[in-house]
Amino acid sequence: MMAAMATGESISFDKVASIYDATRGGLERGRRFASALAAASGPDPVIEIGIGTGAIALPFRELTDRTVVGVDLSPAMLVSAHERLGSVVAVADVARLPYRDRSVGTVVACWVLHLVGDPIAVLTECRRVLAPGGRLLVISARGEVEPDDIEPFTIDLHDAIRGRFDVHERLVPAAADAGLRLVSEQLTEAATWMESPADLIERMEQRQWGALIDLEPDRYAEIVQPVVDGLRTLPDPDRKRGRTGRNPLFVFAAD
Ligand SMILES: C[S@@+](CC[C@H](N)C(=O)[O-])C[C@H]1O[C@@H](n2cnc3c(N)ncnc32)[C@H](O)[C@@H]1O
Repeated sequence: MMAAMATGESISFDKVASIYDATRGGLERGRRFASALAAASGPDPVIEIGIGTGAIALPFRELTDRTVVGVDLSPAMLVSAHERLGSVVAVADVARLPYRDRSVGTVVACWVLHLVGDPIAVLTECRRVLAPGGRLLVISARGEVEPDDIEPFTIDLHDAIRGRFDVHERLVPAAADAGLRLVSEQLTEAATWMESPADLIERMEQRQWGALIDLEPDRYAEIVQPVVDGLRTLPDPDRKRGRTGRNPLFVFAAD
């Protein structure tokens, strides 16, 4: 089931800030993504929209010796980003970036376009701040997970709740309309992690996933509960499976 493309409220991560890094791969994920971003990045200055805890920006800075500044809706996420990066982060909506026209060389949008209320407005805003020759780097949250017995239950859950913007067929034409040309598309390095059906059930029941954070109880009952019930039917639900996934990285140029 795929809902209409997301519009409406952005999702602030205040409620999950204290467990964010521990549940999303932390700095290990950051190092993996940073090496792909560094290879594809444009000129300075570099900004990350939806910078979260700085888990990507810190490894990027360490790898490239380039400063990353960023904004996020969530003051609680930015506490960690500030500890990691210093006074280069601010609370702001990425649909209204606090930067001048054509003043930015590289915009990083990692795991954020699927969470904003109006992703087309965000692309337009990215184009506004990018200087000619600048780059927008989008890492999609729609990971390509190697097939296992868990994946069929969970792969479409976000899309059923909020729709999905950060996939080629929606992102690339919308970016083109905003004046951003696709230059390359690749997958990040593969990551492997251990996870059981029971782990996922706990994460859903605790509403740790972005789309679940503020989900109304009736929509949870309609969309999420059947997924939880399905995961419970798997054999050995407490046995951790080795899972492997990669994320698409789209590189756009502002001509
Ligand atoms: C999944 S986290 C990604 C954080 C970081 N980019 C990373 O990869 O670890 C998404 C972040 O986007 C932020 N966010 C969602 N909508 C936003 C908006 N409209 N403006 C600014 N930040 C937003 C959330 O608060 C959250 O910190």
